[in-house]
Amino acid sequence: MDKDVAGVLIDEARIRRRITTLAGEIAEHYSDRERGLTIVPVLSGSIVFLADLIRQLPVKMRMGLVHVSSYRGETTTPRDPRLIASALPDLRNQDVLIVDDILDTGGTLRLVQRSVGEAGPRSLRTVVLLRKPRRRDPDVAADFVGFDIENVFVVGYGLDYNGWYRNLPYIAVLTPDAGGPTDGPCG
Ligand code: XMP
Repeated sequence: MDKDVAGVLIDEARIRRRITTLAGEIAEHYSDRERGLTIVPVLSGSIVFLADLIRQLPVKMRMGLVHVSSYRGETTTPRDPRLIASALPDLRNQDVLIVDDILDTGGTLRLVQRSVGEAGPRSLRTVVLLRKPRRRDPDVAADFVGFDIENVFVVGYGLDYNGWYRNLPYIAVLTPDAGGPTDGPCG
């Protein structure tokens, strides 16, 4: 698996440190809310980030799930995201935090934010591990961001290429042979 990695963009130690800080920022934001928080992770890319983040959040919480498909076996061309499934509790009057892996064009978050927003939450915030600068839908934003990265396709720490590499403990760029960019390794 490691031979498919052209470069490590963000290593394990940096991810760990940033998630601790991020969890602190989020916990502070919700510190006065005794009624608890509903976390809505966007499957499947957010699973590793989610597991690490929520274990550092000393906030009463429950969870709903949404499953969105966007990229399918392509590293550069985004497709229109589709909501494949959702399992959500009643979100009316609830404080809701969407958790996603990466904000790229914004299509995925627009879909999820709209669908969760229609359920009438009291507040709706979004946290993403990664944010890219390119092709951003100007109407879509994340309230909490782990790292701003360049416009390169990344895998690892939950992010995949054709379903593979989610278990890499770091954020990486693939070699051209494995599906990475052909204009040279990065990071
Ligand atoms: P959009 O463009 O909808 O992208 O904001 C969000 C979703 O697209 C996938 N995505 C990536 N997946 N490496 C990945 O493994 C990437 O560099 C990448 N960029 C976007 C991902 O599913 C994300 O939720």
